[in-house]
Amino acid sequence: MNIVTRNPLPNDAHALIELKKALFSETQFMLFEPNEYPANVEQETCFINHFNESANSSVLVSELDGELIGFLGAAGGDSKKIKHCAQIFLGVKKKYWGQGVASKLLTETISWARCIQLKRLELTVSSNNHRAIKLYHSQGFELEGIKKCAVSTNGNFEDECIMGYLLK
Ligand SMILES: CC(C)(COP(=O)(O)OP(=O)(O)OC[C@H]1O[C@@H](n2cnc3c(N)ncnc32)[C@H](O)[C@@H]1OP(=O)(O)O)[C@@H](O)C(=O)NCCC(=O)NCCS
Repeated sequence: MNIVTRNPLPNDAHALIELKKALFSETQFMLFEPNEYPANVEQETCFINHFNESANSSVLVSELDGELIGFLGAAGGDSKKIKHCAQIFLGVKKKYWGQGVASKLLTETISWARCIQLKRLELTVSSNNHRAIKLYHSQGFELEGIKKCAVSTNGNFEDECIMGYLLK
């Protein structure tokens, strides 16, 4: 399979919304529930432009035969005191799990972060999301703490793991 990892262009906005909506339906481990994602094409275009143009943010998509199958956002801190940090969020379409798509997205993001001299990547992940936690550990992220009852999924409270990666 020839999966391309690249920065999205403004005209990927519609496809990126469709990808995110598919992910929110397929898994409970993302922030939004199905049909809750608020963005329209104009807003998604702004998101893409902002992340592409920002000095300390980045967005990548994985594309297979013209279809977007995964994405990773790294949102850099806004103020001086946290601009050396970026918050990571990602998802891959279920059909393509276990084929290294997320690993590639993370590896490229870590290289980018090193290149622009960020000091820290961070994320939160449900303590029930064993697949993602294993992925983050294998990429060098470390568990830093637990946010108790941080997420409510279908009325059930879940803890979240805080994970971080310090760039040397
Ligand atoms: C978590 C997620 C991003 C992983 O994407 P992916 O493309 O399948 O990941 P990869 O193929 O690169 O595999 C990553 C690692 O997952 C782990 N993994 C694979 N299968 C697994 C399984 N059945 N159980 C637990 N861990 C597993 C392995 O560590 C694997 O690395 P390895 O193949 O070197 O052993 C994807 O499952 C997903 O989008 N999940 C729903 C959304 C989500 O959870 N996002 C993260 C929120 S914080």
